Amino acid sequence: MKRIQYHRYGGPETMQLEDFALRAPGKGEVAVKVAFAAINPIDWKVRNGHLKMVTGKTFPRAFGSDFSGTVIAVGPGVTRFKAGDAVFGSARIKDSGAIGEAVIAPETFIAKKPAVVSFEEAACLGTPGVTAWNGLVDKVEVKAGDHVFINGCTGAVGESAVQIARLFGASVSGATSTEQMQRAEQMGVHPVLDYRTTNLSKIKERFDAVYDTAGTMTVATGLGLLRKDGVFLDLNPSLGKFIRALFNRQLKPIVCTARADILDGLAEAAGEGRFRLPIAEVVPLTEAIPQVIALERGRKISGKAVVAMQ
Ligand SMILES: NC(=O)c1ccc[n+]([C@@H]2O[C@H](COP(=O)([O-])OP(=O)(O)OC[C@H]3O[C@@H](n4cnc5c(N)ncnc54)[C@H](OP(=O)(O)O)[C@@H]3O)[C@@H](O)[C@H]2O)c1
Repeated sequence: MKRIQYHRYGGPETMQLEDFALRAPGKGEVAVKVAFAAINPIDWKVRNGHLKMVTGKTFPRAFGSDFSGTVIAVGPGVTRFKAGDAVFGSARIKDSGAIGEAVIAPETFIAKKPAVVSFEEAACLGTPGVTAWNGLVDKVEVKAGDHVFINGCTGAVGESAVQIARLFGASVSGATSTEQMQRAEQMGVHPVLDYRTTNLSKIKERFDAVYDTAGTMTVATGLGLLRKDGVFLDLNPSLGKFIRALFNRQLKPIVCTARADILDGLAEAAGEGRFRLPIAEVVPLTEAIPQVIALERGRKISGKAVVAMQ
């Protein structure tokens, strides 16, 4: 089987499409034949070594987080899945390996793919959906009547956050680029602000939650936009912010943390047609590396880039 691997932390030049042998799934793990994988910024951040405290020093390391596919084997103690199930979700960051013909994931990081959701679409939902849920549901407990501001509202995490906030009955305002403002309005974001021409620290409205899914706001700006008891969700966490958050309950740094109930919630919403991410481009595995490099260098596409394994 083939997957994208690298033999040291570093830039795009470290990625190679290589043969590998899939290990047997361990306790609580599932082996999946990948149908499609989605590309996320976290993938190149891991490869660059930004998370090496978590990802360690063992090489080669496999590349990619989010996938859809079919279960081929389950490890000891797995109760939620059996061989043949159609699933979607994420690999553990420490293992990665979604951009390849097969991958191992914890059973708590995947869900059954609803029949009405295609494998292409399902591959996109894991990391963005879980990250949005961690902020709005786990930290904010968003509810009907809340007013939420999503910075970067047409990015993958941003669009997931818009849909999850609306799923729970909140109204959503947000900021995006000029090119994406119309799409944001169609998603139900109102008003939509242009991030190039708006100074967020000057807007008058105050919110129950501000989610900086673009990772471009200062903590001062985020906190300044809150109503009393509002929460600023910061997707650009650092040790300093975690320490600051100990003393300020309105600041919540977010680290994507999957759980079975989140994946099942996302699957249910996707099955009802209330959670999906647009697909901009699909490439075969043989063209995945140039696609990752283009996105890493800042090429803009209007939706997710997906890799097809067949
Ligand atoms: N902490 C965690 O656990 C975690 C988890 C997931 C993601 N992340 C991080 O979150 C970020 C977003 O991920 P993603 O997958 O959603 O990426 P994405 O799909 O590329 O979305 C980024 C969005 O931010 C918008 N944007 C860029 N500059 C902006 C600005 N100055 N103000 C407002 N919006 C701006 C972009 O708009 P245009 O493209 O239209 O310019 C785009 O819609 C990445 O840095 C990723 O690494 C962190």
